Amino acid sequence: MNTDFIILAAGKGTRMGSDLPKVLNLLGGKPLVQHLLDTVSDIKGSRVQLVVGHKPELVKSSLDTNKKTDFVLQKKQLGTGHAVKQTLKNLRSNSISLVLYGDGPLVKKQTLTRLIASAEKGNLSILTYKPTDPHGYGRIVRDKKGLVEKIVEQKDASSDERKISEVNSGILAIKTKYLKDLVRKISNKNAAKEYYLTDIVEIANQAGIPVKATIVSDHKQVLGVNNQQELHDLERQYQEDLARQLIVKGARLADLSRIDVRGDLSVGSGSFIDINAVFEGNNKIGKNVTIGPNCYISNSILADDVKVLANTVIEDSIVGAGCALGPFSRIRGGTTMEKGSELGNFVEANRSHIGPSSKAKHLTYLGDAELGSKVNVGAGTITCNYDGKNKNKTIMGDGSFVGSNSSLVAPVKLGKDSYTGAGSVITKNVKDGELAIGRGRQINIKKKK
Ligand code: UD1
Ligand code: CA
Repeated sequence: MNTDFIILAAGKGTRMGSDLPKVLNLLGGKPLVQHLLDTVSDIKGSRVQLVVGHKPELVKSSLDTNKKTDFVLQKKQLGTGHAVKQTLKNLRSNSISLVLYGDGPLVKKQTLTRLIASAEKGNLSILTYKPTDPHGYGRIVRDKKGLVEKIVEQKDASSDERKISEVNSGILAIKTKYLKDLVRKISNKNAAKEYYLTDIVEIANQAGIPVKATIVSDHKQVLGVNNQQELHDLERQYQEDLARQLIVKGARLADLSRIDVRGDLSVGSGSFIDINAVFEGNNKIGKNVTIGPNCYISNSILADDVKVLANTVIEDSIVGAGCALGPFSRIRGGTTMEKGSELGNFVEANRSHIGPSSKAKHLTYLGDAELGSKVNVGAGTITCNYDGKNKNKTIMGDGSFVGSNSSLVAPVKLGKDSYTGAGSVITKNVKDGELAIGRGRQINIKKKK
């Protein structure tokens, strides 16, 4: 049977203490609800009804969805039962409906397919767990045979019911034709005056539909986010899991609690990552790469045997095999470094191409620069690439040697094997093999006695 996923994401998340819709808070660099969208996207025959309400346009524009996702507006947030009611007209009558709460991002696909299988047999199938502290969650009340009688929300629970340790994860699956019948019967006669989806359990029992609960022992799958503390704890948990996965695949980490991966990262075997590395977006690290402490790397590729020394920033760039970077260097803007090239202490490269074995080892700015192979850029060199209106190119031919503290005023071209004298301001092209000196001659003046 096809599955219609109903993801509830209309709430403001008052307990988060911020104006951002709760489901847009980031976990591992990705909105909470995006994790769910990604998990369900490749389940066969799936379609998604995403219920939005608080700042719906912002939620829509912040998510990456495919054409199988419909946004359904819940104008007033009158409860989880009311939220599901808004989607009923969009559901396929011969499907299974599976409800997910947008603030519980980490449920696994296998868990969902198990619930779907149970629903196909005609059950209302709910996912439960036993947290260390059940406070705040809906409690699972079972009858003598172990079937679920009802779910009681914290606010409505008696003191005996509050002692129940098994709680509702919020995830449930049921045949859509049953859901349509049952949800319409949910009322708001409770302490919060909300339409609770959880009332569906009692209503199903009255209709003779068996209610089966599956207890999930791996709590991480059902941990939700209701406040900043829970978001923090879930992020740490998520990061630890990612770090352990990297270690299993052969990466060496100085400390698995001091690496943050906000996006996708692959690390080749034999690579070492020192403390406080932050990876954002899509990053690929090759084999035997060393990354020093306090590095920030986003949307970049590092080939094998690259050495990145402390406090280096690499953004939107490609670093070839055996290159060295840092300490304190920053490359960005689609910079590519070819095999064996080096950018050292306090060097910034922006929209530049660094040819094989070329080096700029100290205090340099390379903007819109194109370096051939084996170029040597002396300390303190600056490409003056911006004239106030346009960005202009500096080309340094193979084997060229730029004297320390040169200003290369772009557009300008240094020929192959050419030289510039230290302290030069180079405004004109230099031909192959020439030495250019653009500085005042030194005069030594005798002191008057
Ligand atoms: C809910 C369950 C509780 C369960 C807990 C698990 C109900 C009544 N209670 O409580 O049994 O133990 O989750 O985490 O379902 N939402 C809407 N529209 C609304 C209300 C909520 O879309 O009108 C969305 C929220 O954005 C959120 C999700 O539904 O993503 C859950 O709502 P929340 O208020 O967090 O429910 P809990 O109080 O945590
Ligand atoms: Ca919740």
